[in-house]
Amino acid sequence: MRIGEILVNDGVLLAPMEDVTNLPFRVMCKRKGADIVYTEFISSDGLVREAARSVSKLQLADEERPAAIQIFGGDVGTMVEAAQRAVESNPNFLDINYGCWVKNVVVRNAGAALLKDPQQMQRLTRAVVDAVNVPVTVKTRLGWSKTEIVILDVARRIQDAGAAAITVHCRTRDMGHDGAADWTWIPRIKEVIQIPVILNGDVKTAHDVCTAFKQTGADAVMIGRAAIGNPFIFTEAKRALQNDLMSGHAQPSASARERVDACIEHLKLEFQFKPSKRAIHEFRKHYSGYLRGLPNNSLTRQDIVRMDSFDKIEERLYRFVNELEAIGAS
Ligand SMILES: Cc1cc2nc3c(=O)[nH]c(=O)nc-3n(C[C@H](O)[C@H](O)[C@H](O)COP(=O)(O)O)c2cc1C
Repeated sequence: MRIGEILVNDGVLLAPMEDVTNLPFRVMCKRKGADIVYTEFISSDGLVREAARSVSKLQLADEERPAAIQIFGGDVGTMVEAAQRAVESNPNFLDINYGCWVKNVVVRNAGAALLKDPQQMQRLTRAVVDAVNVPVTVKTRLGWSKTEIVILDVARRIQDAGAAAITVHCRTRDMGHDGAADWTWIPRIKEVIQIPVILNGDVKTAHDVCTAFKQTGADAVMIGRAAIGNPFIFTEAKRALQNDLMSGHAQPSASARERVDACIEHLKLEFQFKPSKRAIHEFRKHYSGYLRGLPNNSLTRQDIVRMDSFDKIEERLYRFVNELEAIGAS
């Protein structure tokens, strides 16, 4: 798949996720094998107003590239201005969100609201493409509801507007994040457009990544929730793709020590980019993912969420893993 200068074969991408795909997490996923990472979505209104929260999300590190900045909004002028502001951070490309289903985005005619008005989606995309000197891609859904599937029309319009690729979250807006994603649309979309089509939705394991490529002919696969607390999924997916592991056998997953090592590495990245109090507080949501499935992890989690220093957390986590190894439970 090519997006501008970026050439990725069998790409496995990290999905944009608000409050999750901040800079430390993106670097972590890149280190574990993600081919392209995306920022959390950033409000075009916020960028134009120079709101601190929006502007802070523009920060990219060299190590995470290629990386995309994702923006959302419903007003053409504001989106153009926001896109121009975003490219000052030198992203490899810009992505426009036309998939967010939450009410306070949709009522502003942004995100998935554009699925109700594909012509406006086309105008918005064209305006942003014309305004910046980096490739522009789009992330959207199948349609508003099961009876209003518009993805084939949208895909053609997005291509006509000059988009470099389209990511399709294979659910409708009214499904939110529930119900099964319908990958059968991917080959149908590929029949009507030539730009790369990236599959998203319900890719939960390395095996799913292989299945998605084989069943649909997608140009790349994007992983969202399954990467939370589990950046190893990229390593596993890459290994599975190389070995073409379609047998369905479970691959050996990361050991307890590898999980704790990764957790500490990720926490260090948080400290690198945030004041320590904030890093400790905001990292709490990640422990359950890193320790998931390990015997007796709840006591350890209860301890570390009360701790206020990196050294104490590190000591507690390694004590936990040493104990597991001592009883052969790792
Ligand atoms: C916590 C969370 C935050 C999300 N934030 C964004 C976002 O900022 N931009 C976006 O395009 N999609 C966002 N999404 C949707 C994901 O990118 C993805 O499309 C969705 O989770 C389906 O993929 P999955 O089944 O692999 O999780 C978010 C999803 C979750 C769970």
